[in-house]
Amino acid sequence: MEKARKLFIAGNWKMNKTVAEATDLVKALKRDLAGIRDVDIAVCPPFTALYPVGQLLDNTNIKLGGQDLYWEKFGAFTGEVNAAMLKDVLCTYVIVGHSERRQFFHETNETVNKKTKAALAARLKPIVCVGETLAERESGKTEAVVQEHVLKGLAGLSAEDLAEVTIAYEPVWAIGTGKTATSQQAQEVHAFIRKLLAQLSDAKTAARVRIQYGGSVKPSNAHELMSQPDVDGALVGGASLTARDFVEIIQNVRK
Ligand code: PGA
Repeated sequence: MEKARKLFIAGNWKMNKTVAEATDLVKALKRDLAGIRDVDIAVCPPFTALYPVGQLLDNTNIKLGGQDLYWEKFGAFTGEVNAAMLKDVLCTYVIVGHSERRQFFHETNETVNKKTKAALAARLKPIVCVGETLAERESGKTEAVVQEHVLKGLAGLSAEDLAEVTIAYEPVWAIGTGKTATSQQAQEVHAFIRKLLAQLSDAKTAARVRIQYGGSVKPSNAHELMSQPDVDGALVGGASLTARDFVEIIQNVRK
């Protein structure tokens, strides 16, 4: 399909896959997605599988991403991994501020901002996640919440840096629930996010930034979601854990 921006489909494996399982999956993806250049593709395995998966994906059309990072450069931060370490194992991308990190690990707009800046400083491309909970949507706060996530999470970025960022709009009520936002609901929020990006920089930069949708994306709904003008790809959780579904999503959005 004709799009203003090249589609970008990323798989967020979350806390799934041993090294053996991860390498099996990625070998299947390499085989089935070989030669696809009209869609950008990435997978985000857990930290423990990044190195072996990165070795398998080196110089292929499938890029590697981390699921989180810490903003300090080195030191006594037990359990944390920094941007340089992710680059070292061949990551191109890193997810920042996923709702599960906001919900379970005290991620705030301020930490999202620090992480986004640390990623950009190391030339890693951040995928910054934003989105409202069900209670927030039902009380009419969707735009207010998304606005805070975008304006605070991306505060202080230059236009050049902002152009390197991907936003993932992931309504929390749609994640892992099987409930997908309708394509109209997604388009409405994506267009709103693009307006906010123009406020942060300028209309030209805002037009370059890709905004992915995330939340129960599957082969059956991917094409319809991508048919919206401001939906530039997807961050896929559950359906990225099997080669069949992830490949089918990518095939379907190319139609
Ligand atoms: P889901 O997860 O596709 O399993 O809903 C998406 C995400 O959390 O990135």
